[in-house]
Amino acid sequence: MQTMKKFTCVEDIGALDKALAEAALIKKDRFAFTGLGRNKTLLMIFFNSSLRTRLSTQKAAMNLGMNVIVLDVNQGAWKLETERGVIMDGDKAEHLLEAIPVMGCYCDIIGVRSFAGLTNKKDDYEEKVISQFIKYSGKPVFSMEAATRHPLQSFADLITIEEYKTKERPKVVMTWAPHPKALPQAVPNSFAEWMIAAGYDFVITHPHGYELDPAFTRGAKIEYDQRKAFEGADFIYAKNWSAYADPNYGKVLSTDRDWTVDAGKMALTDNAYFMHCLPVRRNMIVTDDVIESDRSIVIPEAANREISAQVVIKRLLESL
Ligand code: CP
Repeated sequence: MQTMKKFTCVEDIGALDKALAEAALIKKDRFAFTGLGRNKTLLMIFFNSSLRTRLSTQKAAMNLGMNVIVLDVNQGAWKLETERGVIMDGDKAEHLLEAIPVMGCYCDIIGVRSFAGLTNKKDDYEEKVISQFIKYSGKPVFSMEAATRHPLQSFADLITIEEYKTKERPKVVMTWAPHPKALPQAVPNSFAEWMIAAGYDFVITHPHGYELDPAFTRGAKIEYDQRKAFEGADFIYAKNWSAYADPNYGKVLSTDRDWTVDAGKMALTDNAYFMHCLPVRRNMIVTDDVIESDRSIVIPEAANREISAQVVIKRLLESL
Protein backbone atom coordinates (compact mmCIF):
# COMPACT_ATOMS: atom_id res chain seq x y z
CA MET A 1 0.00 0.00 0.00
CA GLN A 2 1.41 3.42 -1.02
CA THR A 3 0.70 5.97 1.73
CA MET A 4 1.59 9.67 1.70
CA LYS A 5 2.15 12.35 4.33
CA LYS A 6 1.79 15.21 1.86
CA PHE A 7 0.93 15.77 -1.78
CA THR A 8 2.41 18.78 -3.54
CA CYS A 9 4.28 17.36 -6.56
CA VAL A 10 4.69 14.31 -8.78
CA GLU A 11 7.37 12.75 -6.54
CA ASP A 12 4.88 12.51 -3.68
CA ILE A 13 2.63 10.11 -5.59
CA GLY A 14 5.42 7.56 -6.14
CA ALA A 15 5.21 5.08 -9.03
CA LEU A 16 2.80 6.42 -11.65
CA ASP A 17 1.70 2.97 -12.82
CA LYS A 18 0.56 2.13 -9.28
CA ALA A 19 -1.23 5.49 -8.92
CA LEU A 20 -2.98 4.95 -12.26
CA ALA A 21 -4.01 1.43 -11.27
CA GLU A 22 -5.45 2.82 -8.02
CA ALA A 23 -7.28 5.52 -9.99
CA ALA A 24 -8.80 2.85 -12.25
CA LEU A 25 -9.88 0.83 -9.22
CA ILE A 26 -11.56 3.85 -7.65
CA LYS A 27 -13.23 4.78 -10.93
CA LYS A 28 -14.73 1.30 -11.13
CA ASP A 29 -16.25 1.66 -7.66
CA ARG A 30 -15.74 5.04 -6.03
CA PHE A 31 -17.64 3.93 -2.91
CA ALA A 32 -15.45 0.88 -2.22
CA PHE A 33 -13.56 2.69 0.57
CA THR A 34 -16.36 4.58 2.36
CA GLY A 35 -15.29 3.17 5.73
CA LEU A 36 -11.81 4.70 5.45
CA GLY A 37 -12.90 8.27 6.14
CA ARG A 38 -15.47 7.54 8.85
CA ASN A 39 -15.22 10.12 11.67
CA LYS A 40 -12.40 11.85 9.82
CA THR A 41 -12.57 15.49 8.71
CA LEU A 42 -11.09 17.18 5.67
CA LEU A 43 -10.54 20.93 5.93
CA MET A 44 -10.36 22.64 2.54
CA ILE A 45 -8.83 26.12 2.70
CA PHE A 46 -9.21 28.47 -0.24
CA PHE A 47 -7.17 31.65 -0.56
CA ASN A 48 -8.41 31.84 -4.19
CA SER A 49 -11.56 31.07 -6.20
CA SER A 50 -12.41 27.63 -7.51
CA LEU A 51 -15.18 25.64 -9.14
CA ARG A 52 -13.71 22.24 -10.11
CA THR A 53 -11.23 21.82 -7.26
CA ARG A 54 -13.80 22.75 -4.65
CA LEU A 55 -16.51 20.42 -5.95
CA SER A 56 -14.38 17.47 -7.04
CA THR A 57 -12.27 17.38 -3.87
CA GLN A 58 -15.30 17.63 -1.60
CA LYS A 59 -17.02 14.87 -3.60
CA ALA A 60 -13.91 12.68 -3.40
CA ALA A 61 -13.77 13.10 0.38
CA MET A 62 -17.48 12.32 0.66
CA ASN A 63 -16.97 9.16 -1.43
CA LEU A 64 -14.46 8.10 1.23
CA GLY A 65 -16.98 8.74 4.02
CA MET A 66 -15.31 11.91 5.35
CA ASN A 67 -16.80 15.03 6.87
CA VAL A 68 -15.74 18.17 5.03
CA ILE A 69 -15.26 21.78 6.19
CA VAL A 70 -14.62 24.46 3.57
CA LEU A 71 -13.07 27.79 4.53
CA ASP A 72 -12.84 30.69 2.10
CA VAL A 73 -10.15 32.71 3.80
CA ASN A 74 -11.13 35.94 2.08
CA GLN A 75 -14.82 35.65 2.93
CA GLY A 76 -15.70 35.75 6.61
CA ALA A 77 -12.35 34.79 8.17
CA TRP A 78 -9.95 37.28 9.75
CA LYS A 79 -7.59 38.84 7.25
CA LEU A 80 -4.30 36.93 7.57
CA GLU A 81 -0.75 38.24 7.86
CA THR A 82 1.74 35.86 6.25
CA GLU A 83 5.05 37.66 6.96
CA ARG A 84 6.90 37.09 10.23
CA GLY A 85 8.28 40.20 11.95
CA VAL A 86 5.56 42.52 10.65
CA ILE A 87 4.09 45.01 13.19
CA MET A 88 0.45 44.09 12.81
CA ASP A 89 -1.08 47.56 13.09
CA GLY A 90 -2.88 47.37 9.73
CA ASP A 91 -6.04 45.58 8.61
CA LYS A 92 -4.70 42.04 9.13
CA ALA A 93 -6.05 40.75 12.45
CA GLU A 94 -4.52 37.27 12.61
CA HIS A 95 -1.16 35.75 11.78
CA LEU A 96 -0.87 32.59 9.72
CA LEU A 97 1.44 31.20 12.41
CA GLU A 98 -1.48 31.01 14.88
CA ALA A 99 -4.18 30.37 12.29
CA ILE A 100 -2.50 27.26 10.83
CA PRO A 101 -2.09 25.23 14.05
CA VAL A 102 -5.61 26.29 15.09
CA MET A 103 -7.01 24.99 11.79
CA GLY A 104 -5.05 21.79 12.37
CA CYS A 105 -6.95 21.26 15.66
CA TYR A 106 -10.26 20.81 13.84
CA CYS A 107 -9.42 18.30 11.14
CA ASP A 108 -7.42 15.23 10.13
CA ILE A 109 -6.29 16.32 6.64
CA ILE A 110 -5.89 19.79 5.11
CA GLY A 111 -6.19 20.82 1.46
CA VAL A 112 -4.83 24.27 0.57
CA ARG A 113 -5.33 26.48 -2.48
CA SER A 114 -2.94 29.41 -2.53
CA PHE A 115 -1.92 30.92 -5.88
CA ALA A 116 1.25 32.77 -6.76
CA GLY A 117 1.07 36.50 -6.09
CA LEU A 118 3.20 37.07 -9.23
CA THR A 119 4.96 40.07 -7.65
CA ASN A 120 7.75 38.29 -5.72
CA LYS A 121 9.20 35.35 -7.62
CA LYS A 122 11.30 34.17 -4.67
CA ASP A 123 8.27 33.99 -2.34
CA ASP A 124 6.18 32.25 -5.00
CA TYR A 125 8.82 29.66 -5.91
CA GLU A 126 9.59 28.98 -2.24
CA GLU A 127 5.89 28.09 -1.83
CA LYS A 128 5.68 30.31 1.22
CA VAL A 129 2.05 29.59 2.12
CA ILE A 130 1.61 25.83 1.61
CA SER A 131 5.02 25.08 3.09
CA GLN A 132 3.93 26.81 6.32
CA PHE A 133 0.81 24.61 6.41
CA ILE A 134 3.05 21.54 6.04
CA LYS A 135 5.36 22.80 8.79
CA TYR A 136 2.89 24.11 11.37
CA SER A 137 -0.48 22.33 10.95
CA GLY A 138 0.60 18.95 12.35
CA LYS A 139 -1.63 17.29 9.74
CA PRO A 140 -1.15 15.76 6.27
CA VAL A 141 -1.46 18.56 3.71
CA PHE A 142 -2.24 18.40 0.02
CA SER A 143 -2.13 21.06 -2.67
CA MET A 144 -5.35 22.20 -4.31
CA GLU A 145 -3.10 24.43 -6.48
CA ALA A 146 -0.20 26.21 -4.88
CA ALA A 147 2.09 28.93 -6.23
CA THR A 148 4.14 26.74 -8.57
CA ARG A 149 2.19 23.50 -9.09
CA HIS A 150 -1.32 22.10 -9.50
CA PRO A 151 -0.72 18.37 -8.95
CA LEU A 152 -4.36 17.26 -8.57
CA GLN A 153 -5.01 18.74 -12.03
CA SER A 154 -1.92 17.13 -13.56
CA PHE A 155 -2.78 13.73 -12.08
CA ALA A 156 -6.30 14.04 -13.56
CA ASP A 157 -4.72 15.04 -16.89
CA LEU A 158 -2.50 11.96 -16.80
CA ILE A 159 -5.46 9.68 -16.02
CA THR A 160 -7.35 11.23 -18.96
CA ILE A 161 -4.48 10.79 -21.42
CA GLU A 162 -4.06 7.16 -20.34
CA GLU A 163 -7.78 6.59 -20.96
CA TYR A 164 -7.78 8.15 -24.44
CA LYS A 165 -4.36 7.32 -25.85
CA THR A 166 -4.08 4.82 -28.71
CA LYS A 167 -0.26 4.71 -28.75
CA GLU A 168 2.04 3.53 -25.99
CA ARG A 169 3.97 6.81 -26.12
CA PRO A 170 1.68 9.56 -27.47
CA LYS A 171 2.88 12.97 -28.62
CA VAL A 172 1.54 15.49 -26.10
CA VAL A 173 1.87 19.18 -26.96
CA MET A 174 1.37 21.89 -24.36
CA THR A 175 0.73 25.19 -26.08
CA TRP A 176 0.70 28.68 -24.61
CA ALA A 177 -2.40 30.61 -25.73
CA PRO A 178 -3.45 34.22 -25.14
CA HIS A 179 -5.34 35.52 -22.12
CA PRO A 180 -6.05 39.11 -21.03
CA LYS A 181 -4.82 38.68 -17.44
CA ALA A 182 -1.57 37.54 -15.84
CA LEU A 183 -1.93 33.90 -14.78
CA PRO A 184 0.46 31.83 -12.63
CA GLN A 185 2.76 29.17 -14.10
CA ALA A 186 1.44 26.48 -11.72
CA VAL A 187 -0.60 24.47 -14.23
CA PRO A 188 2.03 24.40 -17.01
CA ASN A 189 4.88 23.73 -14.55
CA SER A 190 2.99 20.87 -13.04
CA PHE A 191 1.72 19.44 -16.33
CA ALA A 192 5.31 19.46 -17.64
CA GLU A 193 6.70 17.56 -14.67
CA TRP A 194 3.94 14.92 -14.83
CA MET A 195 4.26 14.46 -18.61
CA ILE A 196 8.04 14.10 -18.36
CA ALA A 197 7.63 11.62 -15.49
CA ALA A 198 5.16 9.66 -17.62
CA GLY A 199 7.77 9.40 -20.40
CA TYR A 200 5.56 10.74 -23.20
CA ASP A 201 6.85 12.48 -26.32
CA PHE A 202 6.31 15.89 -24.74
CA VAL A 203 6.61 19.21 -26.59
CA ILE A 204 6.05 22.73 -25.25
CA THR A 205 5.32 25.60 -27.62
CA HIS A 206 5.12 29.26 -26.67
CA PRO A 207 6.23 32.70 -27.90
CA HIS A 208 9.73 33.89 -27.02
CA GLY A 209 9.79 35.29 -23.48
CA TYR A 210 7.41 32.68 -22.06
CA GLU A 211 10.08 30.12 -21.12
CA LEU A 212 9.09 28.28 -17.94
CA ASP A 213 11.40 27.41 -15.05
CA PRO A 214 13.80 24.78 -16.49
CA ALA A 215 13.45 22.85 -13.21
CA PHE A 216 10.04 21.81 -14.52
CA THR A 217 10.66 21.58 -18.26
CA ARG A 218 14.02 19.77 -18.40
CA GLY A 219 13.48 16.79 -20.70
CA ALA A 220 10.75 18.46 -22.79
CA LYS A 221 11.24 19.66 -26.37
CA ILE A 222 10.70 23.41 -26.76
CA GLU A 223 9.38 24.48 -30.19
CA TYR A 224 8.72 28.18 -30.81
CA ASP A 225 6.78 27.51 -34.04
CA GLN A 226 3.31 26.53 -32.80
CA ARG A 227 2.19 25.05 -36.13
CA LYS A 228 5.30 22.89 -36.35
CA ALA A 229 4.76 21.72 -32.76
CA PHE A 230 1.20 20.63 -33.58
CA GLU A 231 2.30 18.33 -36.44
CA GLY A 232 1.49 14.72 -35.60
CA ALA A 233 0.29 15.52 -32.07
CA ASP A 234 -2.05 13.10 -30.28
CA PHE A 235 -3.04 15.53 -27.51
CA ILE A 236 -3.10 19.34 -27.50
CA TYR A 237 -3.05 20.82 -24.02
CA ALA A 238 -3.72 24.56 -24.14
CA LYS A 239 -2.90 26.93 -21.29
CA ASN A 240 -1.96 30.51 -20.73
CA TRP A 241 0.75 31.57 -18.32
CA SER A 242 2.53 34.81 -17.50
CA ALA A 243 6.26 35.28 -18.02
CA TYR A 244 8.62 33.45 -15.65
CA ALA A 245 11.96 34.92 -16.71
CA ASP A 246 13.31 38.11 -15.14
CA PRO A 247 12.81 41.03 -15.50
CA ASN A 248 9.29 40.20 -16.70
CA TYR A 249 8.18 37.78 -13.97
CA GLY A 250 4.38 37.72 -13.70
CA LYS A 251 3.83 39.97 -16.72
CA VAL A 252 1.64 39.56 -19.82
CA LEU A 253 4.00 39.97 -22.77
CA SER A 254 1.54 39.11 -25.53
CA THR A 255 -2.15 38.67 -26.19
CA ASP A 256 -1.52 37.66 -29.81
CA ARG A 257 -4.57 35.72 -30.99
CA ASP A 258 -2.46 34.12 -33.68
CA TRP A 259 -1.68 31.66 -30.83
CA THR A 260 -5.37 30.78 -30.24
CA VAL A 261 -6.02 27.06 -30.85
CA ASP A 262 -8.32 26.80 -33.88
CA ALA A 263 -9.52 24.16 -36.32
CA GLY A 264 -6.78 24.97 -38.85
CA LYS A 265 -4.08 24.17 -36.30
CA MET A 266 -5.89 21.08 -35.01
CA ALA A 267 -5.92 19.82 -38.63
CA LEU A 268 -2.10 19.66 -38.48
CA THR A 269 -2.27 17.08 -35.68
CA ASP A 270 -2.85 13.34 -35.82
CA ASN A 271 -6.56 13.92 -35.06
CA ALA A 272 -5.51 15.09 -31.59
CA TYR A 273 -7.71 15.38 -28.57
CA PHE A 274 -8.06 18.89 -27.16
CA MET A 275 -7.49 19.40 -23.42
CA HIS A 276 -7.66 22.35 -21.03
CA CYS A 277 -7.85 22.42 -17.23
CA LEU A 278 -10.72 24.97 -17.28
CA PRO A 279 -11.93 27.62 -16.73
CA VAL A 280 -11.15 28.62 -20.31
CA ARG A 281 -11.57 31.92 -22.15
CA ARG A 282 -13.27 30.94 -25.41
CA ASN A 283 -11.92 32.52 -28.60
CA MET A 284 -8.82 33.66 -26.71
CA ILE A 285 -7.38 30.27 -25.71
CA VAL A 286 -9.49 28.11 -28.06
CA THR A 287 -12.20 28.68 -30.62
CA ASP A 288 -15.81 27.61 -29.99
CA ASP A 289 -15.72 24.95 -32.71
CA VAL A 290 -12.61 23.23 -31.30
CA ILE A 291 -13.79 23.11 -27.69
CA GLU A 292 -17.22 21.91 -28.83
CA SER A 293 -15.81 19.30 -31.25
CA ASP A 294 -15.96 15.56 -30.66
CA ARG A 295 -12.16 15.61 -30.09
CA SER A 296 -12.50 17.93 -27.09
CA ILE A 297 -12.13 15.99 -23.84
CA VAL A 298 -12.26 18.90 -21.40
CA ILE A 299 -15.33 17.50 -19.60
CA PRO A 300 -13.99 13.95 -19.00
CA GLU A 301 -10.74 15.66 -17.96
CA ALA A 302 -12.63 17.72 -15.35
CA ALA A 303 -14.55 14.61 -14.25
CA ASN A 304 -11.24 12.89 -13.51
CA ARG A 305 -10.48 15.57 -10.92
CA GLU A 306 -12.74 13.61 -8.57
CA ILE A 307 -10.67 10.48 -9.19
CA SER A 308 -7.26 12.09 -8.75
CA ALA A 309 -8.44 13.75 -5.52
CA GLN A 310 -9.84 10.49 -4.24
CA VAL A 311 -6.57 8.59 -4.78
CA VAL A 312 -4.67 11.34 -2.96
CA ILE A 313 -7.07 11.64 -0.01
CA LYS A 314 -7.30 7.86 0.29
CA ARG A 315 -3.52 7.59 0.57
CA LEU A 316 -3.38 10.43 3.11
CA LEU A 317 -6.09 8.71 5.17
CA GLU A 318 -4.12 5.47 5.03
CA SER A 319 -1.12 7.32 6.47
CA LEU A 320 -2.98 8.51 9.60
N1 CP B 1 -8.90 23.44 -13.07
C1 CP B 1 -9.17 23.97 -11.86
O1 CP B 1 -8.42 23.84 -10.90
O2 CP B 1 -10.39 24.59 -11.79
P1 CP B 1 -10.85 25.53 -10.59
O3 CP B 1 -9.91 26.70 -10.55
O4 CP B 1 -12.26 25.94 -10.94
O5 CP B 1 -10.80 24.76 -9.32
